[in-house]
Amino acid sequence: DKPMEKERNRLFQINRESAYFFYRNLMNNTDARKYLYKRSISDTTINLFKLGFAPKSWDSLEKYLKSKGYKEYEIEKSGLIIKRKDKSGYYDEFRNRIIFPIYDRKNRIIGFGGRVIDDSQPKYLNSPDSLIFSKGHNLFAANLLEKKSHNERIVLVEGYMDVVSLFNKGIFYAVASLGTALTKDQGKLLSKLGDNIYICYDGDEAGLKAADRAIDILKQEDIKAEVIVLADGKDPDDYIKSYGKEKFESLFENALDYIEYKIFFYERKYNLNDTEEKIAFTRDVGKFLKDVKSPIELDAYMEKISQRTGILKEAIKKEIFGYNLNIENKSIVNNRYINKKYKNNKDN
Ligand code: GTP
Ligand code: MN
Ligand code: MN
Ligand code: MN
Ligand code: MN
Repeated sequence: DKPMEKERNRLFQINRESAYFFYRNLMNNTDARKYLYKRSISDTTINLFKLGFAPKSWDSLEKYLKSKGYKEYEIEKSGLIIKRKDKSGYYDEFRNRIIFPIYDRKNRIIGFGGRVIDDSQPKYLNSPDSLIFSKGHNLFAANLLEKKSHNERIVLVEGYMDVVSLFNKGIFYAVASLGTALTKDQGKLLSKLGDNIYICYDGDEAGLKAADRAIDILKQEDIKAEVIVLADGKDPDDYIKSYGKEKFESLFENALDYIEYKIFFYERKYNLNDTEEKIAFTRDVGKFLKDVKSPIELDAYMEKISQRTGILKEAIKKEIFGYNLNIENKSIVNNRYINKKYKNNKDN
């Protein structure tokens, strides 16, 4: 409806104006620029993402926006200023932070991420969800991807800095979910942005777990994706800075498909030389076969588990699907049924 649309447009304007304010502050703040340079981020990349800096001040953004004619109650709805507990006024949400504007696919600024430039906590802050911002429905940098409609590669990473750093090194197909676990809607957006989806989260325990959840979400939506695992707890930013673009791109060749990743993820927990543990591992990973719709995929995946454990494919199949559901048995059931029917008919 109209009034709502008007309110939303005001918020887009407030965000646009704020991004400009943050950008100008970055240009004028040597420490903030130095922080980005130290992380190898170039001016070209700063400009591409319109990165910014929120000054170390409680009210500089509020003052700036008010000078542009915006009212407190409007600015508050963007999450950029927050009401003081004693209700004596407001304070700026983002202070002394590098700012990452978040755009939707229509290039409107819907929110911000902010990173400290020292060791203070929390390391990152995000705009709260608002009338125009819903974290679970958007991906950072989706606006920068070229709109080729098919057969494109896309890599999903965890963090703002990962995306920025990959673009900085010439990988122009990275996006990040916005500090939350991947949602179904983000999965659908991913599948619109490219055909070949790769998940490349941090190589630490949290990243491996998040990747495991992400492939499950994508599987539920029938979206194909592969996983790149980075060694030594590195993240894509660390990796590309250590090894370069070419090495990073060669990782895609050995990406793990759904079941390969499940095998990798679970085998870390089990000693496969121990029979009991091998059985438990096979049951754990075998469960995921139930979601596989294609018989060819199913067979290929069972082959992988079988190779890893030495347990026969047929045994895995029977364990997972029971005796009556494989094709031969199904036909036996059918024959019995037909025979019975035939017999009944004869009796009549
Ligand atoms: P750098 O330290 O700048 O390289 O960032 P990073 O992206 O490697 O950080 P990390 O792997 O710890 O986090 C990945 C993403 O999770 C970030 O980009 C944020 O979106 C989110 N995140 C990390 N720390 C925090 C936090 O303290 N608060 C919130 N809200 N989100 C966070
Ligand atoms: Mn992490
Ligand atoms: Mn990092
Ligand atoms: Mn990281
Ligand atoms: Mn592969």
